[in-house]
Amino acid sequence: MNNSLSNNGSFRTPLLAGNWKMHKTVKESLSLVEQLKKDCREVKDREILVCPPFPSIVAIKESLQGSNIKLGAQNLFWEMSGAFTGEVSGPMLKEAGCDYCIIGHSERRQYFGETDQSVQKKMKAAFQFGLIPIVCVGETLNEREGKVHFKVVEKQIQEGAKDLNKEEASQLVIAYEPVWAIGTGKTATPEHAQGMHAFIRKNLTSLYGKEIAEQIRILYGGSIKPDNIDSLMANPDIDGGLVGGASLKSEDFSRIVKYVA
Ligand code: 13P
Repeated sequence: MNNSLSNNGSFRTPLLAGNWKMHKTVKESLSLVEQLKKDCREVKDREILVCPPFPSIVAIKESLQGSNIKLGAQNLFWEMSGAFTGEVSGPMLKEAGCDYCIIGHSERRQYFGETDQSVQKKMKAAFQFGLIPIVCVGETLNEREGKVHFKVVEKQIQEGAKDLNKEEASQLVIAYEPVWAIGTGKTATPEHAQGMHAFIRKNLTSLYGKEIAEQIRILYGGSIKPDNIDSLMANPDIDGGLVGGASLKSEDFSRIVKYVA
């Protein structure tokens, strides 16, 4: 899939992903995907992904059969099975129909104590069990105001995304989500986002070499809306979006999926 020229001139297939966070019961999830399937039916040249809460995964998988929408989880634990109450493993998610898994979202770092080390272990486990990890990075408002945002993101990439083999690395997805832009209505300007994405690609180059780094998709996340997606996607290093609030309404998410860059 990674061989067609996308709208921003890159050879990476754009990925538009909805992170539903802790929203939607099974019934509500099914009604949203039913509408999404209709609204996104014609979309061909980009990947569409929904990441619902765990209880909805199996039912949604069934509803998505034969559609152009893929399924992802929002987290996993790195062990395969065992006495880890409350956790969910890679093989469970894979068998339930997931292709992707979000790893190290800032809300997990902030509220559930995730670190670059746990992110790295989860990322490795995702690949081990056949899931593509979407590794989230991004600075807080304090870090940005303290002008350490590049340093913070560099560490998150260098420590959280290290030690993959070449095949894994080329499939990796990174999501740059500045914490100050999440759920706040404050989107990073396309220039800021592009600057950070280029910086992330430079770091990936130092880890894996240029050829691999050029294949890695880097998504932007943080208050993506129908009215700002087009200008974000016009940038050469922005390969898609990880969408929170606006992914909960089919009308908004399908417009985001159908961005015009
Ligand atoms: P919002 O789109 O609601 O700002 O959330 C972004 C996000 O955290 C996606 O993972």
